[in-house]
Amino acid sequence: MEKKNKILNIENIQTYYGESHVIQGLSMYVEEQEAVSILGRNGAGKTTTLRSIMGLTPPRSGDIHIDGTKTTRWQPHKVSKLGVAYVPAERHIFPGLSVEENLKLAARPLNGNDAWTFEKVCDHFPVLADRTNQDGSTLSGGEQQMLAIGRALISNPRIIIMDEPSQGLSPLLVQMITDVVLKFCVESGITLLIVEQNYRMALKVASRHYLMDTKGEIVNVHSTEELVDNPQIIQSHLSV
Ligand SMILES: Nc1ncnc2c1ncn2[C@@H]1O[C@H](COP(=O)(O)OP(=O)(O)O)[C@@H](O)[C@H]1O
Ligand SMILES: [Mg+2]
Repeated sequence: MEKKNKILNIENIQTYYGESHVIQGLSMYVEEQEAVSILGRNGAGKTTTLRSIMGLTPPRSGDIHIDGTKTTRWQPHKVSKLGVAYVPAERHIFPGLSVEENLKLAARPLNGNDAWTFEKVCDHFPVLADRTNQDGSTLSGGEQQMLAIGRALISNPRIIIMDEPSQGLSPLLVQMITDVVLKFCVESGITLLIVEQNYRMALKVASRHYLMDTKGEIVNVHSTEELVDNPQIIQSHLSV
């Protein structure tokens, strides 16, 4: 089998908030064009892992490589310039800016037919096209999540990192977001790292799943097939 490039490689990182040692030796990788999830209970350290990658809460030790470049403790803007788009759980829509302005601020041109532009986002996200002049912060939760994903796509990234996109959304909206992530990220070949407590969504979009325990350590990694065939793995891992 052809060996794929590890576009994101994390080796033994240790991340702290002050004295609090949250990530205690985490290693994982994501191959180019792969969709991978991290599953774990509330407070396990999933968000902190994503913040470590983005340089928002840099690890104290260990290494992070993005496409072969060592990015450990880089500033967040430098990490995003390498082509890593972060969709935080809080979505971070800029208040006072319209939907169009929120999108255009994040736009980064890319040559080729696959490139995401403002027009392409409007074509594929009718919810946003109808509201381009509306203040982004006045959108509903589901619309804001669409905007956050549109904003990630328009930066034409190589990797999208998503923190619990289903959080706080109705089942119908979770289904819509799942479809968008599948169609525009996974099937179009953008590498995806997604954190979810909604494991049903994670199983739909990702093909490999890291299980994280409460010490911010990876205890196992499974394929979607393994988890679908053995539901007790997730039950025992995620139940309290
Ligand atoms: N800003 C912070 N300061 C101190 N502790 C924090 C901070 N953010 C998160 N934590 C703690 O770090 C641990 C991991 O949090 P987090 O990464 O948000 O978990 P998850 O995303 O898996 O729910 C939790 O115990 C949480 O209380
Ligand atoms: Mg979290």
